[in-house]
Amino acid sequence: MHKPIVAANWKMNLTKKSAEDLIAKLNKFVYEDVEVIIMPPFTLLDMAASIADNRIKLGAQNCYYKKNGAFTGEISPDMLVDIGCKYVIVGHSERRHIFGETNDLLRKKLAASKQAGLIPVYCIGETLDEKRKGEKESVLSEQLNIIDNLSMPLIVAYEPVWAIGTGVAAEVVTIRETIKLIRQKLREKRVKAPVLYGGSVKPDNAKEIASETLIDGALVGGSGLNADSFLQIIDIFKEVRKC
Ligand code: 13P
Repeated sequence: MHKPIVAANWKMNLTKKSAEDLIAKLNKFVYEDVEVIIMPPFTLLDMAASIADNRIKLGAQNCYYKKNGAFTGEISPDMLVDIGCKYVIVGHSERRHIFGETNDLLRKKLAASKQAGLIPVYCIGETLDEKRKGEKESVLSEQLNIIDNLSMPLIVAYEPVWAIGTGVAAEVVTIRETIKLIRQKLREKRVKAPVLYGGSVKPDNAKEIASETLIDGALVGGSGLNADSFLQIIDIFKEVRKC
């Protein structure tokens, strides 16, 4: 079994001082047998790269698909590599639903990330409305279709939109069934990728989630902004997955 992955997507949060304090705490406690990733906003990446222990990997929350040029406000995958990023989130539901990012655009972002040597954390998930209409499988299929012909290291994160930021994670049985479905689709595409779960993961529910071995790790939002709760989640994955 490979190492579980526990990633913190900081979203649009923290300032330089609060981020430095958080990283200083993480530096003291991070363990070898979990792949720990922090994903700060762009403004904090350089600082994070310079002070985070090298066992903590760095990821960005987004990128554009062009290498450089007149694209005001955008950041290229090459720039992220240059600053020390190994990972980049592509297709987070907030990018899809607040900023209108389409599967077509995300396909280009995945390809550009691959070219730059970044590992995308590709987020997929259905909205509450899609879930109610019974469209979950077709939505996930469509979102996964864009990874056709993209042989590249990749992490998939299943983040049901209705579980993000609500404090109520999906039930483990639902996560298990959905990840089975995702794995089947990945197999059909001959893509090998760890599959994470994201959506209200916190110390209270991390044990139950980590105990389901089909789940390769967690993509954490709110609980990743606090050193104690993030470290508890890391510790739970470490303990539960100990061989
Ligand atoms: P929460 O853990 O705050 O629900 O956020 C999950 C998420 O969107 C991670 O990318």
